[in-house]
Amino acid sequence: MKKDFLCLSDLSLEELEQIFALAKDLKAKQKAGQQHHLLSGKTLGMLFEKSSTRTRVSFEVGMYQLGGHALFLASGSTQMGRGEPIRDTARCMGRYVDGVMIRTYSQDAVEEFAAVSDVPVINGLTDMFHPCQIMADLMTVIEHKGNYRDLVFCWVGDGNNMANSWINAASVFGFELRVATPAGYEPDAMVKERAAEAGANIIYTNDPDQAARGADVLNTDVWASMGQETEQQERKKAFTGYQINMELVALAKPDCVVMHCLPAHRDEEITDEVMESRHSIIFDEAENRLHVQKAIMATLMS
Ligand code: CP
Ligand code: NVA
Repeated sequence: MKKDFLCLSDLSLEELEQIFALAKDLKAKQKAGQQHHLLSGKTLGMLFEKSSTRTRVSFEVGMYQLGGHALFLASGSTQMGRGEPIRDTARCMGRYVDGVMIRTYSQDAVEEFAAVSDVPVINGLTDMFHPCQIMADLMTVIEHKGNYRDLVFCWVGDGNNMANSWINAASVFGFELRVATPAGYEPDAMVKERAAEAGANIIYTNDPDQAARGADVLNTDVWASMGQETEQQERKKAFTGYQINMELVALAKPDCVVMHCLPAHRDEEITDEVMESRHSIIFDEAENRLHVQKAIMATLMS
């Protein structure tokens, strides 16, 4: 039976660990210039309803390196942009391609697509989750810290798709997570409830200092996500004090690492100084999108 990757919990802990192992192997092969054509002759359809740099490039290059091919489909240039039902698009796409990656607004839309699709569907970001990003983030933590177990993760900023994904990750992988958001910008209530039911070790606070104190990994993201551009100014006010700067970093462990999925607004949610400091593993994180997504595609589409 085909498997989708719409959120982390679509795969078991064992499958996710196997993806990290395969990603490490594929990264080593790519660095050594060794061929690794695990998806020879296969095609990935990539549907984008939102902008992208890293997701588009890493999936497209990843398919090429795996011996396959990727099709970039901006929704505005497809019939979906003219109102063709998702389920009709999904049923047709599955007759041409071997997998689909979608970046869109609603998680329900991705779920509707996957429910009728004969081929695996990968979530390339919705308003609710960004599971591929979290896999790249954890791969990067493993590279820098040896493992994710026994580490304290801290989220400072908006309770957005990335915050929701970190909550899922804390639940699935079992690490401690502290989430600091301004009041009114908390993560999704249902996501929090499910994590609590699963016994996840997460604290929610409005105090960034409390979240950062003694943490191993500090994480943030933009204050206004794609689709929230009109709220930019109002959010800038609400998020004052929620910046990752050197004062906040000084509260964390001396060897803490700082992450950001990018794109960043330098000197808003994170200072230029932190992004360029020895703590930043942000560009390794961006690179690992390529390696971990190759492992995800090879796992789902082989
Ligand atoms: N982090 C991330 O998904 O980047 P893009 O929006 O550039 O794809
Ligand atoms: N939260 C951001 C992530 C971008 C990769 C957004 O959805 O715009």
